[in-house]
Amino acid sequence: MSRLVIVANRVPDPKEAGPTAGGLAVALKDALANRDSMYFGWSGKTAPQTGTEAALHRHGTTTYATIDLGHDDYKHFYQGFSNAALWPVLHYRLGIARFDRRDFAGYQRTNAAFAAALAPLLKPDDTIWIHDFHLFLMAAELRALGCKQRIGFFLHVPFPPRSVFNGLPHAEKLLEAMEAIDAIGMQTEDDSENLRAALIAVGKGDVALRVGAFAIGIDASGFAKLAAQRAEAKEVKRLRDSLAGRSLAIGIDRLDYTKGLPQRIAGFGAMLERFPRHRGKITFLQVAPVSRGDVAMYRALRRELDEGVGRINGQMAEPDWAPIRYITRAVPRPTLAGFMRMARIGLVTPLRDGMNLVAKEYVAAQDPADPGVLVLSRFAGAAVELDGALIVNPLDPDDIAEALDAAMDMPADERLDRWNRNWAKVKAVTASVWCRRFLSALEGTKDVADAGQAEAQPA
Ligand code: ADP
Ligand code: F6P
Repeated sequence: MSRLVIVANRVPDPKEAGPTAGGLAVALKDALANRDSMYFGWSGKTAPQTGTEAALHRHGTTTYATIDLGHDDYKHFYQGFSNAALWPVLHYRLGIARFDRRDFAGYQRTNAAFAAALAPLLKPDDTIWIHDFHLFLMAAELRALGCKQRIGFFLHVPFPPRSVFNGLPHAEKLLEAMEAIDAIGMQTEDDSENLRAALIAVGKGDVALRVGAFAIGIDASGFAKLAAQRAEAKEVKRLRDSLAGRSLAIGIDRLDYTKGLPQRIAGFGAMLERFPRHRGKITFLQVAPVSRGDVAMYRALRRELDEGVGRINGQMAEPDWAPIRYITRAVPRPTLAGFMRMARIGLVTPLRDGMNLVAKEYVAAQDPADPGVLVLSRFAGAAVELDGALIVNPLDPDDIAEALDAAMDMPADERLDRWNRNWAKVKAVTASVWCRRFLSALEGTKDVADAGQAEAQPA
């Protein structure tokens, strides 16, 4: 089997996929463990200039190859074009995107620098798999350097309708650069359709044929086992004891404006207002470690949440009960798994999300004898599969309030039936199934458009 070269801006700590790494790192762990592989990307450090030669570390079957980002590239490539322009546009938020030509120049420069540092490390029969929106231009840069290897690309985030995407300055340049890619994976069929339409509109109908939907998954049985093991762990018991018999609702997200956190908190507040019989009977724990904290919109969100949580707690709390507990520190994954298992309700209400792995993790973490209820945004990619969830419009606090009320009162047999439906889907499309499907499309054993969609229906 040829070597697999994964390229992503964020390279996880090989010992553990840390909380800041997000869904991408978590999903790739499996693919890397089973094959001779290289993981290439940013070291997470900054330096006066972007590195030209990667630092190499071997761990198991994987060589980690990383370069530092120059201060200027960190500012314009990472904070600027990637996180202040592309991220909001791809999540349908054209109105809050910030554009600056220096940012796009930094994006081009960094994609070229990544390609130049990777090219000398490549072997002729490597399979290269580039991930996410930071690196739309990298395949074209590799081709310009003479790389002939197969190159795949996976977009972990949504792709909006072309009328939105075209609001991005240089949108055409990104689309044209996709010519260099052999197989392009998206999370859902809607995302694929949007990208195909955008490609066709710039005369790249040939590239549109290489786009397919490949829903990403988790290590379902591994996470279920972890959650069951941690159910009696010290920190989990401490949380259970502190609830004093109350139900727990849980939210776990990077502190990101796409995750719908202010709206979720408002929805929880609306539930307590409209259905006062739940007051004092439920506690909502939101874990939201700070992410991209030096980008302006993220700082503003943090202030908004501090205020929103404070307001609801101030209005509703009793001397012995606060409705919302809010933590902006990272919590170890095993502990989170135990918390999820204990939670009667999992609140996953992003305004827009490529997939949302937390939704799948919450399902996997449940006790099959007494499962909790998933309240899920219709705008998360996961909603395509998880039809056993209570599906809500995350922009409508009353919709969230009504779903919370229904979840609180849901009889055990309905909870079980809904959970069984969700668990069947989570088990069928795991992280390794996702990898296999995409790689079989990339490595030519399957047609791209068919490989994803045709198998996306669980058995
Ligand atoms: P995104 O990729 O946008 O961050 P996902 O929900 O797809 O969103 O993936 C997030 C991943 O990071 C999940 O595996 C989740 O368990 C993990 N994660 C999120 N928040 C935390 C946290 N506070 N501590 C540890 N892991 C976290
Ligand atoms: O999964 C989406 C994603 O944007 C990843 O590409 C990224 O690594 C993760 O979220 C966390 O963001 P960041 O790398 O900016 O901390």
